[in-house]
Parts: sequence; C-alpha cells; structure tokens
Amino acid sequence: MKPVVVVYNRLYEEALEYIQASCDVHYFPGYKEKMPEFLEALKGADGLIGSGLKVDEALLDQAPNLKVIANKSVGYDNLDISLLKKSGIRATNTPGVLDDTVADAIVALMLAAARRVPELDQFVKTGGWTESGFKDHQFGVDVHHKKLGIIGMGGIGSRLAKRAHFGFDMTILYHNRSRNEQAESTYDAVYCQVEELLEQSDFVCVMTPLTPQTKGMIGKNEFAQMKKTAIFINASRGAVVDEPALIEALQTKQILGAGLDVFEQEPVERDNPLLSMPNVVTLPHIGSATEETRKKMAMLAAENVVAGVAGGKLKTPIF
Ligand code: DGY
Repeated sequence: MKPVVVVYNRLYEEALEYIQASCDVHYFPGYKEKMPEFLEALKGADGLIGSGLKVDEALLDQAPNLKVIANKSVGYDNLDISLLKKSGIRATNTPGVLDDTVADAIVALMLAAARRVPELDQFVKTGGWTESGFKDHQFGVDVHHKKLGIIGMGGIGSRLAKRAHFGFDMTILYHNRSRNEQAESTYDAVYCQVEELLEQSDFVCVMTPLTPQTKGMIGKNEFAQMKKTAIFINASRGAVVDEPALIEALQTKQILGAGLDVFEQEPVERDNPLLSMPNVVTLPHIGSATEETRKKMAMLAAENVVAGVAGGKLKTPIF
C-alpha cells in the first residue's frame, strides 16, 4: 500500500506529480471550503504538505497516522513544535531557496517607501503632473549611503545586507541571536544591541521568525527609539510588531514611513489605518512569491514529504 499524503493549498503540477509517483494524494487546493472532506482525508494521512495551516492538538487528533508535515514556507509559526516532537511527528520548512527573492522584495519596499513610488505613481496616473510640475514636499529621501539596521541576520538578512552593501553603499548594523561572521567580514556588517541599532538606523528591517520571544518585540518603546526620519520595513511576520504602536508612530510622525509585506491580521482588514497612510507601502505577504521561487519551495516541500512518509532522511528538517 502506498503512503497517503494530504496536500492543502495550491501546489505546482511538477511537485504534485513528484508526490503522486510514490504516494496516494488527496489534493485540497481550497481546503477551507472543503473542511469536512479535508478532515476526513487527514484520518488516513501519513504526510501533510502546504503552508499556513495551524497545527495544534485538535488537528493532530484528526490525524493519528501522521509522520511528517512539510511546510511550504520558511516560517513555521503555524506549527506547535514541542507538540510535534512529543508526538514523534517530523517537520520541514523551505530555508535557503527563497532568500534572494525575499531580499529583492525588501529592497523594493525600501525604495518604494523612500522614493514614494506608489504615491507618485498615483500622482502621475491621476493627472496631478501638470505644467506646474511637482512640489518640493513630494521629494523622497535617499537610500544609498544610509544606515540599514537588520534585526535577524539569517539567510534573508544576509542577502539583504549583500544588496545594501554592494548595491547601495549602505552601512549595515545588525542584531541577531548569534554573531554572523560571514556578514561581518563580507558586508562590513556591525553587530550591535537592538537599542543602538534603532537609534542609529535610517532603515530598520525586522527579519526575525515569529516565536513567543519575538512576538510584539517592536512596540511603542522601540518606535520611540528610532529616528524621526526612519523608515520601518517588515517582511517577516506581522505579529513581530505591535501594530497599534506602529500606527501611532506613523500618525504622530515618530517615524517617517513604513514598507510592510505582513500584517497582524491577514488578509489585512479594509479599515486598517495603515492602508490609508500615503507614507506606508504595502504588499500582500508576497515576499517569496515569484514563479521561480515558489516552484523551488514547492519541490523542496514535496521532496521532504516523500522522504518523510518513507521514514527517510529529510532535506530541510526544522528539528
Ligand atoms: C515564508 O516562507 O515563511 C513566507 O513568509 C511565506 O509564508
């Protein structure tokens, strides 16, 4: 009998076919609309692959045979890791393959926020650009030769440092759980405490994974420590930031602007004040979303789930 794999959310054809070659697959591209069928399929599942599903005790009760969960994302805050360890269920994520793509998206947010790209795009498209030209108050601020503070110098943080150092002549400050010697020697990144980083940086980019320790780590006090000209970038998880504190910091001009790929509540609520601020550039949690990278993430997750249901070596285990 072939192992059974439940796939939730859309999966690229190649990745699906790779799993189907050795497993019986139950595919739920829109699992939220098919919850009863999805839960029924879980009862017989050896493997589960997808992204974002909250895996807790209630879910595991529905999946008594589960051996492996392959997260199709680098973040794994949807998984209760200690519960999985206790239950003998292995888990994987997709580190590495998305680092360059997410770093590109962060640079896009930095440039768009600093040079006010969406705001000026609207200005042109809505006929605001007339013979009288544009006004000084529409000018942006430089990115090049500024100080970039990166909180969380892992794979994505390092790729961002590379772009900022070589592409924009920026000075890199960083804070991380452990020193990143490669970033220090190759990109001249300077390790410092969060407080110093916040006080000195022109751009503050938070790249930490969401854990109980990092939840809400950027709040009222942290925004108060930033420069009034600082631009804040978040492409990790919305809950790493105290969102009401971010809104207040922007409303009171405690900071200059923000570039956000992630929000506390996703999809973001239509009435979230961040959406009506011209100095905030938003993306729909799309940092890794290019055709090429999402395919690589899908294939890596597929390889992990196939190895996991067979009891084999996982390519990118979380623990
Ligand atoms: C990731 O891989 O964690 C991205 O944020 C997409 O969820």
